[in-house]
Amino acid sequence: MKKQKASIYKCSSCGREEAKWLGRCPECEEWNTFIETTVKDNTLNARKSKSGLPQTFPLHSVDPMKGSRINSGISELDRVLGGTNGICASKEACGIMKNSAVLVGGEPGIGKSTLLLQIAASALTKGRILYVSGEESAGQLRLRADRLGINKDKMERIEILCSGNLNEIETVLDSVKPVLVLVDSAQTLFSEDAGSVAGTVNQMKFCSYELISWVKEHDAALFLTAHVTKEGLISGPKTLEHMVDTVLYFEQNDKTSGFSETDDCRFLRAAKNRFGSVDEIGIFSMGEKGLSSIEDTGRMFLVRREGDLPPGVATAAVLEGSRTILVEIQALTIPAKGSMSRVFSDKIDSGRVSRVSAALEKHLGLRLSDQDLYVNAAGGIRVTEVGVELALACALYSARTGLALPADLAIAGELSLTGEIRPVRRLSSRVKTAANLGFASFLGPLTEPPVSAMMAVKDIKTAIKSVYGSDH
Ligand code: TYD
Ligand code: MG
Repeated sequence: MKKQKASIYKCSSCGREEAKWLGRCPECEEWNTFIETTVKDNTLNARKSKSGLPQTFPLHSVDPMKGSRINSGISELDRVLGGTNGICASKEACGIMKNSAVLVGGEPGIGKSTLLLQIAASALTKGRILYVSGEESAGQLRLRADRLGINKDKMERIEILCSGNLNEIETVLDSVKPVLVLVDSAQTLFSEDAGSVAGTVNQMKFCSYELISWVKEHDAALFLTAHVTKEGLISGPKTLEHMVDTVLYFEQNDKTSGFSETDDCRFLRAAKNRFGSVDEIGIFSMGEKGLSSIEDTGRMFLVRREGDLPPGVATAAVLEGSRTILVEIQALTIPAKGSMSRVFSDKIDSGRVSRVSAALEKHLGLRLSDQDLYVNAAGGIRVTEVGVELALACALYSARTGLALPADLAIAGELSLTGEIRPVRRLSSRVKTAANLGFASFLGPLTEPPVSAMMAVKDIKTAIKSVYGSDH
């Protein structure tokens, strides 16, 4: 990588750096804010004193603007990257952190390249954007941009480079000075300086590191895509995880689930996030014009049906980050085919299913240990929140006994091994969301103070009695 020039010009308002003095800052549009500076103070490198030795500096002297964000213009992406408009004080306070690198992993065809191009089009920045593609030709990118409906004005600020050659990319970075660098993909990067052959893990690590260093030295942000195979993470992208600040994985529901409304639904989950929570998920649908954010997720994971529920179905009110979603939990029990009972559940951890069924067997005397248990969540969403346990218990009970649950009942609560129902986070907000979506009753744990409009139960026995009547 080229050595930084001895003297650079820095905007005293937003921190943007330029090689030459400018009257007006292209980033924040302030006049006369560029100041000549010889010190590179926004890198991860320690400041050097005159003697060349590294020096510490007082925390209060650090420019807080270094932590500023670029709103991506894609609400569900901003939610995952850091806060939502509801949580952040302003639009500028959510989204892509400057001086940071984000890895976007996912299976081929899930929408990584589409997401990157949409970010390029919608990011709220006046700076330039560089889209580097080692995967597609300029013509293919243009076709995709047209399909996404990106207008001419937006296209003008997006510079395209179709190359995986690190030296070429670095030369372009130094001349274009983008605020946002989008690289598709890490696997196509190569450099003669990294030795060995292109496409190896070493090449990918070396090149990615160089790009990450560049954005950190230039107050820019980097998005890097990586292909991940069906089996999960191959060794390549995994080694990039510790180098970047944020790791996002794209997931898709299996198309076999048969819920037409959520068929093209994609979930964006953070596996690591230095600047935000890893609880939030972004929910998108892939349509004719690319990915669109789905913010109204309340009923998305419910199956639309008239009248009564079939046995084995319960509605859970679970938290996904800062929002409550209602998810239909489906269970099926059939006599075990082998001598051992098995659990088939990929949307809810099968360890959790085993624990809940053991608690049911012990505390209700419901025989499940000679049954094979199948569990699913509608819409293909993975449910990892502990509050799903009571609904899961009710679905299993209903499946085993053949007694359907009321269609207008929503459920939340943790089931302990002792059979007690434990309180879960933000219960009143779950009750409120369920009520707004038309659920007339809510089954949940005892709390102090009590949550209004909720059937509060202390253990699984009472829970079953309050749903089905006292003879159960
Ligand atoms: P893509 O972004 O190329 O995936 P990745 O980079 O992760 O391999 O997404 C490709 C898929 O998305 C492909 O199957 C076509 C589909 N798609 C749409 O349905 N609508 C669109 O507007 C676009 C651009 C793609
Ligand atoms: Mg792609």
